[in-house]
Amino acid sequence: MDKIIIRGGRPLHGEIEVSGAKNAALPFLFAALLTEEECRFTNIPRVVDIRTALHLLTELGVEAEWRDDNEVVLRAPSVRHLEAPYELVKTMRASFLVLGPLLTRFGRARVSTPGGCAIGTRPVDIHLAGLQQLGAEIRLQEGYVEATASRLRGARISLDFPSVGATENLMMAATLADGPSQIENAACEPEIVALQTLLNAMGARVSGAGGPVIRIDGVARLYGAEQRVIPDRVEAGTFLIAGAMTSGQVFVRGARAEHLDAFVQKLRATGIGLEIEADGIAVTGDERPSRVDVITWPYPGFPTDLQAQMMALLTLGDGRSLITETVFENRFMHAQELTRLGADIHIRHNTAAVNGVAMLSGAPVMATDLRASVSLILAGLAARGKTEVSRVYHLDRGYEKIEEKLSQLGADIRRVSAEKDGTAEERRRTVV
Ligand code: EPZ
Repeated sequence: MDKIIIRGGRPLHGEIEVSGAKNAALPFLFAALLTEEECRFTNIPRVVDIRTALHLLTELGVEAEWRDDNEVVLRAPSVRHLEAPYELVKTMRASFLVLGPLLTRFGRARVSTPGGCAIGTRPVDIHLAGLQQLGAEIRLQEGYVEATASRLRGARISLDFPSVGATENLMMAATLADGPSQIENAACEPEIVALQTLLNAMGARVSGAGGPVIRIDGVARLYGAEQRVIPDRVEAGTFLIAGAMTSGQVFVRGARAEHLDAFVQKLRATGIGLEIEADGIAVTGDERPSRVDVITWPYPGFPTDLQAQMMALLTLGDGRSLITETVFENRFMHAQELTRLGADIHIRHNTAAVNGVAMLSGAPVMATDLRASVSLILAGLAARGKTEVSRVYHLDRGYEKIEEKLSQLGADIRRVSAEKDGTAEERRRTVV
């Protein structure tokens, strides 16, 4: 298992380019199952989750290839079988997005339920309720969802919660259903709008994405399409915080303020200087951030995927900040690791009280999930001395070449392969 070693306390300066959004690219890959024609996607980030999705699609019999660094071409004239196995789905929850496309195109699918993960139980009940309303027969058997439908029928679906994945699964399923569908209380994320744009380029008839009601008129078949993946708003926010935490000056090329409204407002409320440009956002961090309260919320609220990074920033705030996580039930595991770096954080239920300290000090810490791992990197960049982040495989799921990008900004950061038998520290903590 690799580790990342950082010697902090160096202000970051320069320009950094945002990669394509992993969470927009993943539904694109699964949408290619909806047609037998070729789909070509550009600006696909080279991250582990994309590799996992391509492996699953190949297993299903889809022809998939990387054309160059960030371009993928897929063709699904038919599939070898209709099963997404537990071994793959358990490593990446988004694999569950094969269900809607397989069911609506082939009339059947057997997909493992994802199971829980570090940040929560993450059930799929909203996905399944929506597919049943579209006329699917759903059976749960040995941890698998077995879904059948001769042809899905358009329906009016109201989601109990604006689930991103459920909205995406149901949008894709409804494109080939017989008749019109309406998804109410739909997720409004930019990734949902991107998926609508792709589906319409494939010949579907989808409207309303970005708002709480999405309408889909079913069509008989879909066609191949080309599409560029939107910039990753979570990576953009991460780099803005990196510039702020190190009292540096960074231009984040590709950052779109309109995808980050709540986050930009909150960052400005801490007193950090942000300049919105046509092709990115510039950040100037020159003194301690002011305390602020943060409540995560479905889009357009403050994004849960930037909560851990915001907590890292506020550990250096000039007072007590309260961070409330409302989207996932267990997304504070980075807190105890940040405490090892000298942060003063107290958790009660779904609220973290972060008492700002003047300085963080480097220490060995352990990543627990994708966004927690990057919050430890951010804290390490600001901390005095050496920080060693282990289990960085979490990081590799969603960040492309992050240590290279941060090195370009002047960070003293490098990746090392941990000794085979692991360090004493890592062994001890694993036992614990
Ligand atoms: C997507 O996950 C993202 N992943 C997550 O990003 C992101 O944190 C999340 O949306 C919320 O914005 C991808 O897009 C691949 P949800 P998803 O369904 O679709 C509950 C990252 O770091 N729920 O909106 O799985 C669920 O338990 C990842 O890149 C149900 O109860 O999120 C959670 O509490 C982490 N039943 C809440 O809704 C369901 O059927 C939000 O989940 C579905 C969801």
